[in-house]
Amino acid sequence: MAKINTCVFISGKGTNLKRLIINSNKYDFPIKIKLVVCSNKNAEGLKFAKKWSIPYLIFKNNKFLSEKKILKSLRNYKINLILLAGFMKILSKRFIRSFGKSILNIHPSLLPKFKGLNTFEKVLKEREIKSGCTVHFVTEKLDEGKIILKKTFFIEKKDNISSLKKKTQNLEYNAFSEAIIKIFK
Ligand code: GAR
Repeated sequence: MAKINTCVFISGKGTNLKRLIINSNKYDFPIKIKLVVCSNKNAEGLKFAKKWSIPYLIFKNNKFLSEKKILKSLRNYKINLILLAGFMKILSKRFIRSFGKSILNIHPSLLPKFKGLNTFEKVLKEREIKSGCTVHFVTEKLDEGKIILKKTFFIEKKDNISSLKKKTQNLEYNAFSEAIIKIFK
């Protein structure tokens, strides 16, 4: 099947990237990961790009120059889809407009609740009864854009930041791939 040329943007451990690579290597999964962009040259997640021989670029601190260079590479690799998988920088409006194709983000809360950073702290502080993750289209406004799907779990009394993170990420691994299948298959 013809697959969608995809670039995954990461910043940290890259556990979502790992799952996306494994799934994209299945013959009937709709995307092929051609490129990885990482905002930190020492990020652990780069090991997955190296392991599967996927070329990668570093998103440097000079946002203007970096975005310009990345847009050029996205064109060279004929990328038609960007997945933000734990990418902790905010893309400029100019970048989003210039790319002009779909960008999907995974966020560790039940949007529209708890946009931005420190999600698990906010969830605990607000004494939420449930939490989860959301996959949505990226627009020029942070953590907005049409929601594709959410996955939910109930919070237990004993939960803390690290247990919430673990439970959320376990849902994320399937959520991202399910969202891709929902849209592109
Ligand atoms: C994920 O939990 C993702 O939801 C979160 O970063 C983590 C990356 O983990 N993203 C955001 O907070 C974006 N606002 P990973 O590097 O192991 O995939």
